[in-house]
Amino acid sequence: MDTYDCIATKLDVNEFARKRVPGEIKAKVLEAARLTGSSRNRQHWRFLLIQDRGNLATLALDSTTGQWVRDADFAIVIMIDPAVPGSMIDAGRVLQDMQLAAWNFGVASRLYTGLKEEELKRDFGLPQGLKAAVALGFGYPVRKIRGKKDRKPLEELVSLERYGTRIGPGDLS
Ligand SMILES: Cc1cc2nc3c(=O)[nH]c(=O)nc-3n(C[C@H](O)[C@H](O)[C@H](O)COP(=O)(O)O)c2cc1C
Repeated sequence: MDTYDCIATKLDVNEFARKRVPGEIKAKVLEAARLTGSSRNRQHWRFLLIQDRGNLATLALDSTTGQWVRDADFAIVIMIDPAVPGSMIDAGRVLQDMQLAAWNFGVASRLYTGLKEEELKRDFGLPQGLKAAVALGFGYPVRKIRGKKDRKPLEELVSLERYGTRIGPGDLS
């Protein structure tokens, strides 16, 4: 899959098949995270990989908006240093790189931000100085994914030269 197709066809999925994702693919996902750029190359993020079924169930209990992670094949919690300027942008970049790297191998994923910080610290030993910004669940999708996205048209999103000026046919030539 080329990069554009990967972006164009990826959908966030939270229903996963009971089929194990090979270790080599997990390694690629983690390597994609490691290779992602960060603000001033601080690399302040840390990643917690969870693949034990019991721990996935605990992770689900420690969430308000991602209980579906219980059925993921594996999950990754992204921690960041909140004192680093732009740290949430760094979190966004690294999570997207991981999602795209996974999807390149047919592994679907979804993120969630409803994390119970104190419970995560208690259950998984997360350090005090880092913020658990976001978590991702990964797995093979339970059904075939079609690349139909519910998105606004480009004309609604893009202005040309001055905010509010819509782009029209021929403007991109
Ligand atoms: C900043 C952000 C926070 C999100 N938080 C959650 C969440 O807490 N729980 C969840 O199930 N999905 C969450 N999502 C997933 C979005 O609902 C999903 O990306 C969006 O519906 C588009 O999905 P699609 O690409 O499959 O169309 C979040 C996405 C983003 C970008």
